[in-house]
This record gives sequence, C-alpha cells and structure tokens, in this order.
Amino acid sequence: MAADRFAAQYTALRRQEGWIGADGREDPEGGEPRLWRGRLESVAQAATALSSQWTGPSRPVVVDIGSGGGWAARYFGDADIIAIDLLDIDSRPDVLQVRADMRSLPLRDHTVDVAFYAASLHYAPVSNAIGEAARVLRAGGLLVAVDSPMYGDRRRQALAEARSAAYYAEAGFPELAAHYHPIDVTALRAALASDGFKVLRLEAGVTARRWWERLGGPERSFLVARLLRR
Ligand SMILES: C[S@@+](CC[C@H](N)C(=O)[O-])C[C@H]1O[C@@H](n2cnc3c(N)ncnc32)[C@H](O)[C@@H]1O
Repeated sequence: MAADRFAAQYTALRRQEGWIGADGREDPEGGEPRLWRGRLESVAQAATALSSQWTGPSRPVVVDIGSGGGWAARYFGDADIIAIDLLDIDSRPDVLQVRADMRSLPLRDHTVDVAFYAASLHYAPVSNAIGEAARVLRAGGLLVAVDSPMYGDRRRQALAEARSAAYYAEAGFPELAAHYHPIDVTALRAALASDGFKVLRLEAGVTARRWWERLGGPERSFLVARLLRR
C-alpha cells in the first residue's frame, strides 16, 4: 500500500534527522529540542491566533491535518481535536486519530470549524489541500497553517523543489520528493480566493535558513484565512 511505503520511509528519515526519539513518536517530548523549538513557537502562535479569530461555538472542532504524533492537541485545550495523518499513529487517548490522506479527508462537507496544518500544508498540491479544507469547513471556519515552505514566485518554488529532491536523494529516500510540494504564494492566494477564503494573515516566512533546510526543518510561514462562502 502506498501509504505504508510512505509511512515507513518518512518515519525512517525523521528518525535519522532527530525529530523522532527513542519512543518512536514524532513529538517534541522525544525528539531533539533544537529541531522542535521553532515548531513549538509556531503552534503556540497558531493557538493564540485561533483564540483571537474564532467567533463561533465555544468549543470548536479542530482537524489537525498531517498531525504527526498528534502532540499539537496539547496547545488547543478549548477544542475537540481530530488528528489526521498518513502515518498509522495511535498515541493520544484524548484525541481521535485517523489514518487518512489530506487530499481526500474522511469528513462530511461543512462539518468542522478549523483546519489546522503544522508543517504539513505542503504535503499535497496546494489546490488539493485548500479545496479539501474548503469542503470540510463550515462557513466562518478558519484555515490555520504554519511552518510550510512558501516562495514568492514559481522560479524560487521550482528551485526549492529541486533542492529538496537532492536532499531526499542524499538522505537515501528519493521517493519522498514526490510528496513534497513547496508552495508558490501566488498559487496559494489564487486557490484561497477561488475556494471562498478571505486571508486574515499571510507571512511567507524566512526561506534562507540554510541550516534549517539541510536538516529538513521548519520554514516559519504563517497563514490564517476564514471561509466566507458556502
Ligand atoms: C513535517 S510533518 C509535521 C507533523 C506535525 N504536524 C508536527 O508538527 O509535528 C508532516 C506530516 O504530514 C504527514 N503527511 C504527509 N503527507 C500526507 C498526506 N497526503 N495526508 C495526510 N498526512 C500527510 C506526514 O506523515 C507527517 O506526519
């Protein structure tokens, strides 16, 4: 099964990089702190953005898409969390963890309040990911995405794609390059607009952190958008 093959290779790479510790989970409590520091800050900022922008029911349903070990739930104490990932993970009793592909979310139309992506929006072509988020969100729902690589134009995006392909090949996992879709900000804005989102905040982030890139680490981008139409 393609998902099993992806999961085995992805997990082996993350272990090699140091994101996964002795307990076998991709979680800041197990991996190397220097790798996780930036992600923890980004997820904390996402939780703050969510509490300031959320205007719906007091306990929103948040789908953590590309959730890895599902640890981000610790930051969303006032929400019900569904964690979705291609990896077969069952590590948190307080979170509903579902193995599924973000390009085809196992959720009914217009049923969730927040679609959250931590370093995962770029694991599907941007129009697929945004289209699925728009399908499952209720009107007024929020899309919050942090730490995905975003580039100001198609040329820089293509260079990033080539760099990451070289990185995966050198690390011994060339097939993983096909899963990695660095984002062209113009295409992202177009997809958001055509699917009915209003952008509340979009920072493309720092893309010249070469030591982060070598480690396969985070790019500090930040997106908050609200779904206006239904
Ligand atoms: C860089 S990790 C981020 C994990 C987690 N959000 C975090 O911050 O620790 C990207 C995650 O996206 C997942 N992923 C990749 N492609 C996916 C897909 N098509 N559908 C669902 N999850 C996917 C990977 O398995 C991985 O767990």
